[in-house]
Amino acid sequence: MVDAAEGTPVAGSTLLTPGAAPQPTGGMIRFSSQWRERLAAGPESDLGLTEQFRRLAATLHHAHLANGLSDVMLTSASPGDGKTLTAVNLALVLAESYRYRVLLIDADLRRPSIPDIFEQSDGCGLSEALTSPTEQKLALVAITNRLSLLPAGRPISNSIEALTSPRMRQILEEATSRFDWVIVDAPPVSAATDARLLAQMVSGTLFVIRAGQTQSPDVQRAVDAIGREQILGVVLNGVEGTGPTPYYYGHPRD
Ligand SMILES: Nc1ncnc2c1ncn2[C@@H]1O[C@H](COP(=O)(O)OP(=O)(O)OP(=O)(O)O)[C@@H](O)[C@H]1O
Ligand SMILES: [Mg+2]
Repeated sequence: MVDAAEGTPVAGSTLLTPGAAPQPTGGMIRFSSQWRERLAAGPESDLGLTEQFRRLAATLHHAHLANGLSDVMLTSASPGDGKTLTAVNLALVLAESYRYRVLLIDADLRRPSIPDIFEQSDGCGLSEALTSPTEQKLALVAITNRLSLLPAGRPISNSIEALTSPRMRQILEEATSRFDWVIVDAPPVSAATDARLLAQMVSGTLFVIRAGQTQSPDVQRAVDAIGREQILGVVLNGVEGTGPTPYYYGHPRD
């Protein structure tokens, strides 16, 4: 287990600028009220839910130790399957239970949603950095001492151009070198080619399926589009009677 040094400045940083440390109030995470009970941290968190995400995080932790896995993307076949919920909870548990330094990237540049969860005011983010003619420093948002957020910024429609830019690769490279874990919240595969492009830039993909909602032909199409070899595992979200419960069925590649 990596016990990340809190707030350690990182040498060689070019694009990513650490956010101000969160207020030392103990709770310190500013969750929005409609997400609080679905998150695996904070005073209103559900123990059963937190436990499920610890199991998922444990698998990633072992893959990190065994083969250096340190960046994953979350995607799914359709909108609303639970990608963002899973990405945020995974990032929280890796940071708070496993004490990794984690960067959560909101890479849904067309419809960013993470700002809603953390009650973070809409500001600049990835989309501005990728579309600006000049190189810009990107201010990260400190969610906890160990968890930072790279917000998506303002929604853009030309996200394919932005995501395929050399700057995007530079940002991901810097992120993986500075953090123990980089968790990328991606759009659904059905929306555009964004998720397919992003899948080629990260070490592996966790595929979210919403129980009772995601249709199996859509899953098949999405998995084929991403590439089966890119998929590390599947998170089955929302099994009836158990609340928002993710299951991890796959095994990260050796
Ligand atoms: N297991 C669950 N139980 C209850 N609510 C859930 C569950 N999973 C997700 N939700 C809720 O469903 C909505 C959609 O979830 P989320 O935003 O995580 O999906 P998404 O796949 O990221 O969607 P999008 O494709 O629009 O980005 C949110 O309001 C979220 O809180
Ligand atoms: Mg989402």
